[in-house]
Amino acid sequence: MSLYAIGDLHLHYQSELKAPGQLHGRVWKNHEEKFRKNCEKLITDEDTLVLVGDHSWGRNLGECETDLQYICGLPGRKILTRGNHDMFWDAKKTGQLNELYRPHLTFLQDSYEVYQDYALVGTKGFTFEGPFYLDRRGRIIGWDEQAQLHAKKLVERELVRLRKSFELAKADGFNRFIMFLHYPPTDILEKRSGFTDMAEEYGAEQVIYAHCHGESRFYDSIHGEYRGRTYHLVSGDFLRWNPLKIL
Ligand SMILES: [Fe+2]
Ligand SMILES: [Fe+2]
Repeated sequence: MSLYAIGDLHLHYQSELKAPGQLHGRVWKNHEEKFRKNCEKLITDEDTLVLVGDHSWGRNLGECETDLQYICGLPGRKILTRGNHDMFWDAKKTGQLNELYRPHLTFLQDSYEVYQDYALVGTKGFTFEGPFYLDRRGRIIGWDEQAQLHAKKLVERELVRLRKSFELAKADGFNRFIMFLHYPPTDILEKRSGFTDMAEEYGAEQVIYAHCHGESRFYDSIHGEYRGRTYHLVSGDFLRWNPLKIL
C-alpha cells in the first residue's frame, strides 16, 4: 500500500491546448500515454494517487468529461485537488463533483482524506508571479506592487481554506499530516510564507506542490528538507510522468 502524487496533467482530449510549451516540448509528446503506462506499472488498486491540480484544459465539465474519464481509468484510488486551470471545478460546488464521480474520484476541497494514520489535507494555494522588472543582467529590481497586493488577498483566502482542512482532520483526532498545494508554497521573492508557516504549525511531514513547469520554473520554490519538513515538486513534466512515491 503506497501513496503517490503528481500534478499538471493538462489533459485536452476535448479542448484546445493553450500552452505553447505543451505544443512543442518533447516531454509533452503523447504524455497521456506515457503517464498511463507508468501508472499501470507502478500503482496497484491498494495504492492512492493524489493529483494536485491542472487536470484539464477544458473550460467546463462537458469539455473535461473525457479527461476525467481517463483519470477514472488509472489504477488505484484517485484524489484530486484544484489547480488554477481547472475551470470545471467551482470550489463551492465540490460536493456535486463528488456525487457525480463517486466512487471513482474524490475531489478534495475544504475537507481532508484519510491515508493510513495520516490526514491528507490541502488546497489550491496561490503565489505572486509578477510582473517582475529586471535589469539588463536579468536580475529582479522591482515588481508590480498592485499585483502583489492582489496576490496577498488570494493567498489569505487560500490559507483560510487550508486551515479548515487541517482543523477538520485535527478535530477527528489526526496528528500526522501530508499537505498538498497546487501552487508552490513560496514565491520567488520569499524564503518562507503563510503556507510554510502553516505546515510547521500543524507539523505536516511533507508538503507536495506542482504548477512549476518548464525547466526554467522547476526551482522557483523549496525542494527537499526545509525547517523540519520535506518539500516535493511533483509537476508532471518535472517527474517525467512518473508519479512520486510519498509514503
Ligand atoms: Fe500547470
Ligand atoms: Fe498551475
